[in-house]
Amino acid sequence: MNTQDDIAAMAGLAPVELITRNTAITAPRLVPEIELHLATEELPLYKAGEEELAALGIGSPYWAFAWSGGQALARYILDKPKTVTGQRVLDFGAGSGLVAIAAAIAGAKTIIAADIDPIAAHAMALNRKRNEVDFEIETTDLIGVRGNWDVLLVGDVCYDKEIADRLLPWLREQTTFGCTVLIGDPGRFILRDLGLESIASFHADTTGIMEDNDLRNARVWQFTD
Ligand SMILES: C[S@@+](CC[C@H](N)C(=O)[O-])C[C@H]1O[C@@H](n2cnc3c(N)ncnc32)[C@H](O)[C@@H]1O
Repeated sequence: MNTQDDIAAMAGLAPVELITRNTAITAPRLVPEIELHLATEELPLYKAGEEELAALGIGSPYWAFAWSGGQALARYILDKPKTVTGQRVLDFGAGSGLVAIAAAIAGAKTIIAADIDPIAAHAMALNRKRNEVDFEIETTDLIGVRGNWDVLLVGDVCYDKEIADRLLPWLREQTTFGCTVLIGDPGRFILRDLGLESIASFHADTTGIMEDNDLRNARVWQFTD
């Protein structure tokens, strides 16, 4: 089949089939102890543009990538498990569920992995099973909710101004309730001048187009005030 046929063949696939046919089991560069269903260069999901996917009723497949901010957060938690051990954790904008899986391995008491993309929920369920861990999956938009989590982890969700403008005031408010908020991000312009400090940085040399260039500067941030 040519690429167009491959892309068209995605229409009407059930979510689990869409994911398994379009991903390969891959360990993210900074987190080799975790395996995820991730897109690869050869697979139609990667070859298709956002418009082609939208025409098939498929949203941007953020869940098929391990973003640099999520990788930084997952690495940080695995290196410093006390950050989450025994704590109630929310992984907000969880995508593949990478950060939630790291929190589970690090011994969090309870974990909610939240993503409004319903296909992400299926990807998380597959990745949860693959890594033999447990966490709850939530698809409602939790921005504005006063939850009872102790640690709020946010990997690469400030990717545009619209979401950042909604998300950041809520995250700051969570700190006033005593919640530890950790943001994984390569250092986007949007996050400047917000009173955030970088508390950890990680570096991986990237090779192919599938690997996020931002992995050369993957960081974890925290509010200072
Ligand atoms: C760039 S991906 C990052 C995924 C993952 N955290 C990582 O670092 O690999 C951002 C994710 O945020 C999700 N998202 C956007 N707005 C959201 C909202 N209001 N509530 C929950 N998830 C949201 C998107 O669906 C997407 O899966």
